[in-house]
This record gives sequence, structure tokens and C-alpha cells, in this order.
Amino acid sequence: GKTLRPGLWPGKRRPAIGDRVMAQYDLAIRGGTVASAFGVIRCDIGVKDGRVAALAEAINDATTIVDASGLLVLPGGVDSHCHIEQPEANGSVHEESFISASTSAFAGGTTSVVCFTQQFKGGGVLDMHRAYRARAATGMLDVALHQIISDPTDVVMNDEVPQLVADGVRSLKVFLTYEPLHLNDEQYLRVLATARRHGCLVTVHCENYDAINWRAQALLAAGMTAPKYHAWSRPPVVEREATHRAIALAEMVDQPIQVFHVSCAEAAEEIARAQARGVKVWGETCPQYFALTAEDMARPGFEGAKFMCSPAPRDTAEHARVWGMIQRGTLDVISSDHCGYSYGGSLGKKQNGDGANFDVVPNGIPGLAARLPLLFSEGVSKGRIGIEEFVRLSSTNAAKLMGLYPKKGAIAPGSDADIVLWDAGKRVTLTNALMQHAIDYTPYEGTEVTGWPVVTFRRGVMVMRDGVVQAEPGTGQYLPRAPYPMVAPRGVLANGFDAAPVL
Ligand code: URP
Ligand code: ZN
Ligand code: ZN
Repeated sequence: GKTLRPGLWPGKRRPAIGDRVMAQYDLAIRGGTVASAFGVIRCDIGVKDGRVAALAEAINDATTIVDASGLLVLPGGVDSHCHIEQPEANGSVHEESFISASTSAFAGGTTSVVCFTQQFKGGGVLDMHRAYRARAATGMLDVALHQIISDPTDVVMNDEVPQLVADGVRSLKVFLTYEPLHLNDEQYLRVLATARRHGCLVTVHCENYDAINWRAQALLAAGMTAPKYHAWSRPPVVEREATHRAIALAEMVDQPIQVFHVSCAEAAEEIARAQARGVKVWGETCPQYFALTAEDMARPGFEGAKFMCSPAPRDTAEHARVWGMIQRGTLDVISSDHCGYSYGGSLGKKQNGDGANFDVVPNGIPGLAARLPLLFSEGVSKGRIGIEEFVRLSSTNAAKLMGLYPKKGAIAPGSDADIVLWDAGKRVTLTNALMQHAIDYTPYEGTEVTGWPVVTFRRGVMVMRDGVVQAEPGTGQYLPRAPYPMVAPRGVLANGFDAAPVL
């Protein structure tokens, strides 16, 4: 016989025609409507060793057969913007652990996340990355890591970032606002240039730090301290300005960026304009920018804090404009920006501002499990987008931009068998219990959705069925990523600038 590639038929000779062999596939998903990398088709899926092995009209020869008739069969969600178990400079840690986040993600049809390794001012990133990577391994989700840069020192930029890239980190995250994380323009440029040299995407939180502080101080001085004034402190113009600036500086050094959590059309228009002139900029938005409003922050007492994130939720007219920007492809990734702060939890996160003011409430809201149902319901069920577009927005585009495709983000031979069976007609009223997270509320309590995940497979293993999650802690995998492919030779920029001296 011929020598076989190791692993193809472990421990066995190649079967000859006529031999009886064990079932060809570990799992067959039969009779569903599959949103594959090739379009939406009726077919069966054969899974072997955790990967998609075949798409065919009929697959019978499997150890386990799952009937998906009447259901959509979708690639598992890829949530490229999640804050999980993230340490903060004040000594606290986000309450969502990698274990509770995994449960919540599987319940909501998400199978991979990209989380954030923190950097504290004055500290490095490599040790933080190693420690956080070890924490991520405690969960059940597959996890890739962005690296936050809050202090771009020479050591971090020149010595540590290359080592991070070698360990599969190909995206840096920067904040243009927030104490104590924000970078000034010179620091942001350093990060852009470093990213370009070593092959990282830069993801950017775009709001104008000084403008927000100036307005917040004025509001507080006038006694306007309630949660709703959070939105007053950061109107769309502060986001538009920072988005423009973030793009302009990235354009100057020909460095690809993704603008995070775009909340309004005027910021998205900056992205569209830049894309039209060939700048490598992508835009992400989140369900909170089409499902929550600034009015939610005006609820009685301090309850408005439950909806407090940055940028702030806008209004229904803005929701329509955001949908327009999704439909035209300017905003092509929908993430959750999940944040683990309970309202009245032991850490007293959201509520610790009770009787105090909006300025001390931690920003960010939980949305890991609600992301896909909200996008499907508002998008597909209401006729704004088709199923293929849903898959691109919830999974494929993030996988591509973050260097995970086609391992993640597709149902195709060779892809990980991260698969969600989706009941497009199921009507569900969202409750905190359904979210299965560690947070004591959901901002979407009482929201009705049409379309719901009924089964989740992670690498061929059924980890959720009818809301029951079963998965072994520690089975999640770290997802190393190849460096971001730079499109121009070093020092010669596509935009005509000669940046050789600095790049
Ligand atoms: O308010 C938000 N979005 N908090 C999470 C951190 C961030 O800005 O992405
Ligand atoms: Zn942000
Ligand atoms: Zn975030």
C-alpha cells in the first residue's frame, strides 16, 4: 500500500473499495438550509474530527445524525469585540468569566470571540498577554486576542509587539477617549506605524476626549448628573470628529484600521468617504445602536445606567440611518461589545453611581447572547437584510478581518464545524435568564425577537440544545492568527507619502 498522510486514517490502512469501514463521518446534519461559503443551499453536512468534511445532497454514513429540517444551518457567530474577565486599572475585573461567557455565547449561537488583553500605563503587554491567554483557556469558547495599547513606549512598540504578533495577535486596540486609556494623536500615530511594521490591524474607539470632558464638567457643574446626561456629554459630533481624525492619521501612514462601535450615520459617512478614496478602513456597529435609545437612559432612578455605553445609544431616526449604512456595506461587522458590569452586583458596578453621577458609572453593557437574535430579528425578520448578509455581518466578515477565515466564519470543507441550527420563525421574549451570563440584567429585557438559535455545535460537539448548555470548561481553544497582510512594500505607501524614515 501507499503511505498515507498522517492523520487521514489514523492507525489504519487506506480502505479498499468494498471494505466495510466505520461510519465515514462523526456527525451528519441533515435536511437543513445551509448558509455555506457558497451561498444558501439545501444540503447535508458531514463532520469529521471537528471539521466540516463534506457538503452533499445526502449524507447517511455518520455515527450521529441530527435532523435540521425546517431550520437554517449557519456558521457559528464570531463576536470580534467582547470584554471578558478584563482587568481594569482601578483593580476590578469584569464580572463575566470565560466560563460564564462561553455559556452565554453558546446559548446565543456564538462560538468564537476576540477579547482584549489590557495594558496598564507604565506596564508592558507581553506578561499581560500570557496571563490573559491562560485565563481564556479556562472557558469553552474559542478565543483570539486583541491587544489594548494605552502606553506605547519604545519597549512595548519595538520589543513586545513583534513577540505578540509571533504569538498570533494581529490586532491592536486603541482608545481616543477614556481615562486612563486614551492616546493623544502622537501616541496613536506611533501605534499605527508600529502596527504597519509588524502586521497588525488597529481597531479604534473614536470619540473626542477633551470635548467629552469639557461637556461633562459643564453638565455636572449645572447639577445635571443623571444617567441620561451621559448621552448629552458625547453627542454624535464628538464621534464624527474622532472618526475623521482616526482615519486621516491612518491614511497618512497607510495603515488599515477598523472603527469600533459606530453609533451614527455622520461617523459612518466619514468611513464611507474614506473607503471611496481607497483608504483601508472598516466600520463595526453593535445591536445597541439599532435596538436601544438615549431615552432608555432616562428611566426612573438610576436605572438608566443599565443602558450606558460609549458611544451612547441614539434615537430611532438614527437607527434607520445605521441600518442604511449596514445595507450599503459601510458597517460590515456587528459585534456585541459585551461588557460584564452588573447593575447591583457584588462589585456594585453600574449602581455604584446611585445618587452620584453619570461620570462614575462604568461604560459598557452585556450583549453576547442577544447579538444574533437582535440582528436576525431586526435585520432578516423585518426584511432589511437577507440570510447571507446576516451570516456575513455576524460571522464571516469578522472572521476575515481578524484573520480567522475560513477556519471560522464559513461552513465549507476544512472549516471548523462551528454550526448553529436556527429557527427563523421562533418568537422569543428576551429575559435575563435566557442570556445565561453572569450579569444581573440585560438591557433587552422584554424585547421580542423572531428567530432563535436552537442548537450550537462547537468544532462538531453539540454544546447547546434548546437553551441547555453542556460543555467542559477548558475545552476552548486559543486562536492564533497570522500577521495582517501588508499591501505595499515597507516604506512605499499606496497613498504616495514617502514614510520610509519612520516606517
Ligand atoms: O462603553 C463601552 N463601549 N465600553 C466598552 C469599552 C469600549 O469602549 O469598547
Ligand atoms: Zn470602545
Ligand atoms: Zn468595547
